[in-house]
Amino acid sequence: MNKKANNEFPMNSLSEQRWSPRSFKNQKVEKEKLQSIFEAARWSASAYNGQPWRFLVGFQGDKTYNLIYETLVEFNQQWAGKAPVLILNCYQIHFTHNGALNLTAEYDLGQAVANYSLEAINQGLYSHQMTGFDSLKAESFFGLGEEVKVFSVTALGYLGDADDLTEDFKKMETSERKRINQSAFLLNKF
Ligand SMILES: Cc1cc2nc3c(=O)[nH]c(=O)nc-3n(C[C@H](O)[C@H](O)[C@H](O)COP(=O)(O)O)c2cc1C
Repeated sequence: MNKKANNEFPMNSLSEQRWSPRSFKNQKVEKEKLQSIFEAARWSASAYNGQPWRFLVGFQGDKTYNLIYETLVEFNQQWAGKAPVLILNCYQIHFTHNGALNLTAEYDLGQAVANYSLEAINQGLYSHQMTGFDSLKAESFFGLGEEVKVFSVTALGYLGDADDLTEDFKKMETSERKRINQSAFLLNKF
């Protein structure tokens, strides 16, 4: 399945190739590849260089994976359990340097996830972010305490075959990717 962006203007090839599949191959992800993926997160920009992103990584078959999987809504459970890696994307709510509330922590986490998603492509891997899950359940399962909040889950792995999905998911997997035009989000003309 190739769902490369149908971009109107030239852009970098990682952004062209990234998309969010629901079918993953039954193939483990190498530790070195994960290290590169989190290195891209590590070098993300963040307010005051606060680096509030925190990640919990589950590998298919281990306890962390099973607990992350358990927090997913049924829709996501139907496909995400085939992904070899599930990542719980979290953030620290206060700055480490001065203890002040970090109002950009979620924004910074989002950038880190965006960056690791592109590095995943660079490593030949695909990611699929989800907010269809119970974040409070996740926080209690992992005893994250008051300081760390959970924002989203990412399924990660090698791209699978759309034919391995149920009919409904196969339709979604093979459907055309659509975007609004730049004129719809650029609030001024240039
Ligand atoms: C914050 C966020 C939450 C999402 N939640 C879900 C989800 O719960 N389930 C799902 O199947 N896809 C989820 N998605 C995937 C989006 O539907 C997908 O990114 C969007 O349709 C664009 O498709 P593309 O990533 O293939 O370009 C989520 C994506 C983001 C960024």
